[in-house]
Amino acid sequence: MKKSSYIGPSISRYQFEGLKNKGWIVEYAIEVYKRRPNIVALMELDIGSRFQKVVVKSFGWRDARAPFISPFKKSRAEMAWDATHRLMDAGLPVPKPVAVYTARQAGFIDLNIFITEYIGKHQKSSRVFESEIIDFARKRDVAMKIAEIVSATHKAGFIHHDFVKDNFLVSDADSRSVFLVDLTLVEQKKKMTIAERMEDIAKLNLCSCNLDHDHEDCLWLYFILSYDSENAENILVHLKKSIQKLQKARKST
Ligand SMILES: Nc1ncnc2c1ncn2[C@@H]1O[C@H](COP(=O)(O)OP(=O)(O)OP(=O)(O)O)[C@@H](O)[C@H]1O
Ligand SMILES: [Mg+2]
Repeated sequence: MKKSSYIGPSISRYQFEGLKNKGWIVEYAIEVYKRRPNIVALMELDIGSRFQKVVVKSFGWRDARAPFISPFKKSRAEMAWDATHRLMDAGLPVPKPVAVYTARQAGFIDLNIFITEYIGKHQKSSRVFESEIIDFARKRDVAMKIAEIVSATHKAGFIHHDFVKDNFLVSDADSRSVFLVDLTLVEQKKKMTIAERMEDIAKLNLCSCNLDHDHEDCLWLYFILSYDSENAENILVHLKKSIQKLQKARKST
């Protein structure tokens, strides 16, 4: 049975107690990015004896059965902590992990919190792609940068399992600077098939053509070229299949 654990620099006692309460996080946050199922908030914490802007993610339950299996499993905060270190070691642009806390009672998870460095002002890449003001060239550059990150993730032997546009953050200061977040589901694999890689990519939903027909300014094509230009034709065929499969699955649910 697992025990409560905290890894990270010391946090002032007052703030540490506060972090256990989601209402306190919302009240004292500089900005709340998300409220459900997880609270994600920008906060200034007295951590490691200095005030620092950090992003606090306090996980909520998605699945009613999850609390019952938790005495023997890592918390999602602990999984995110492990994955973030591994991806950082592989040279990927992920926000630096600062601390992780899992509180348990008789092994059952009461709360679990993951704290990372603040990457600065940014936009979710979905906002960039949807924007009517941003021109195509910039969208293309962001899509190609995302492809580089996805390709490096796969080459390092990881499947992300949640490559959606919202999990790529584009820095306001420099649109070439893109960060990958939401690493709870990351899986390390010794070998991965092209179908597994394409399944990981398909959810990105970069162009409404779904690779069904040729047209100008297709973000999927730029993505493929940046992901693996040498095997672009083969990738195109497999990615198209994965997108179709995903659409079918969505229609049937
Ligand atoms: N280190 C960071 N610096 C700045 N902003 C961040 C950082 N981490 C997260 N954010 C902001 O918080 C938002 C939500 O974060 P994240 O994707 O990790 O949580 P989530 O979407 O709730 O996770 P899940 O998909 O597991 O529900 C991001 O889209 C981003 O705007
Ligand atoms: Mg997310």
